[in-house]
Amino acid sequence: MQDELQWVNGLNQEINFSKNIVLAVTGGIAAYKSAILVRRLKDYGFDVRVVMTKGAQAFVTPLTFQALSGNPVHTTLLDPEAEAGMGHIELARWADLVLVAPASCDVIAKLAQGLADDLLSTIYLATKAPIWVAPAMNQQMWAAKATQRNLNTLNTDGVHVIVPDAGVQACGDVGLGRMPEPEVLAEQVYLYFQQKQRDLAKKFGLLAGKRVVITAGPTREAIDPVRYISNHSTGKMGFALATACYAAGAEVTLIAGPVSLPTPHGVIRDNVISASEMLEQSLVYINAGCDVFIATAAVADYRVAEIATQKIKKSGDTLAIDLIKNPDIVATIAKQAKRPFMVGFAAETQHIEDYANKKLVAKKLDMIACNDVSRADIGFASDHNAMVVFFAQQYGMSAQNLQRAPKLEIAQQLVEAMSTALQQHKLP
Ligand code: C5P
Repeated sequence: MQDELQWVNGLNQEINFSKNIVLAVTGGIAAYKSAILVRRLKDYGFDVRVVMTKGAQAFVTPLTFQALSGNPVHTTLLDPEAEAGMGHIELARWADLVLVAPASCDVIAKLAQGLADDLLSTIYLATKAPIWVAPAMNQQMWAAKATQRNLNTLNTDGVHVIVPDAGVQACGDVGLGRMPEPEVLAEQVYLYFQQKQRDLAKKFGLLAGKRVVITAGPTREAIDPVRYISNHSTGKMGFALATACYAAGAEVTLIAGPVSLPTPHGVIRDNVISASEMLEQSLVYINAGCDVFIATAAVADYRVAEIATQKIKKSGDTLAIDLIKNPDIVATIAKQAKRPFMVGFAAETQHIEDYANKKLVAKKLDMIACNDVSRADIGFASDHNAMVVFFAQQYGMSAQNLQRAPKLEIAQQLVEAMSTALQQHKLP
């Protein structure tokens, strides 16, 4: 459990699938697909160790799997040399998931019986990890009563049986019995761990049970139908925070100005254009219930007083456009009766502590993260950031220096800071 908690709350909260898969390959023509399956599992970041039955070795050589997995292949139970490397018990303990693919009729029968006369059947009995079986066989053998009986037994024993695909088989028959494509199987494994991580995060994550709303990116203020005023914000910090908050167990809504970033997994995204729209949508989510509001957006301070309905034509040497002040989103929300924990951002070039603290008070924030935009190595378009975090006086927390790091790491540290302060936060 401790490991699992670290997996959820640890420094690397980016969906991290450093999980171990024991892929057991048994004797069937579909064994060739398992070679590709190893590749796909590795693409997702899994560490894969392959166990082969004798039958499997008649179809594909262990060397193929060794080259693809980057690990030695395990073939025998009673080989002292192999056992000295990683024995069957160690392998059974190492696994976070045991995937038997393809699973032949014979192996299914053996597992259902609980025999333990080779490496795979021994691991099957010795592991605590979930076991998945992907049967692949002739359609008549699949339909055979004995096979179905054995599969039922495995099901009852808690094994996840993956129903084979239907189609033309290597033997020329048409019917159920094809092993699903490697891409599909690997994705199922990935989604399983992704869901597991989410379930754990929702129970034990630093922001478990919290509803978080984040503004991100620039806003765009129209001048006429073809022109606008905006800024260079890329939204990266806000999107990284959305990822980190979700990984920490929160329900996350991201109100994004015009940016070209993909939506982080699991996050609800609401695209807006102008500051007025961003405020309007923020209020909608705040009123629906929100525990933490994080304002990373680089909101335009001013908008055009009157947006021209037609394209403004070129005329004199100068052009004057009247601008009026935009609402301050974060300050407006901080004034609400149902006020969430408020986190603001500030970009300063000097007197960081002084300016940040003034902003903290003026905008009634609980926490403010401040970056030094005079530094060329961090900030707007960069993938890195460095920040100083200040807390409202009531928290009695001293400022925290977050050293230059990738934005996701900074986001994770901000989540930690937030969750510490949140524990003391009383919603009015
Ligand atoms: O006043 P300044 O723009 O420096 O404040 C920055 C903080 O206030 C950021 O958290 C930003 O998202 C938020 N802000 C806002 N609405 C505005 C201006 C800034 O929410 N109109």
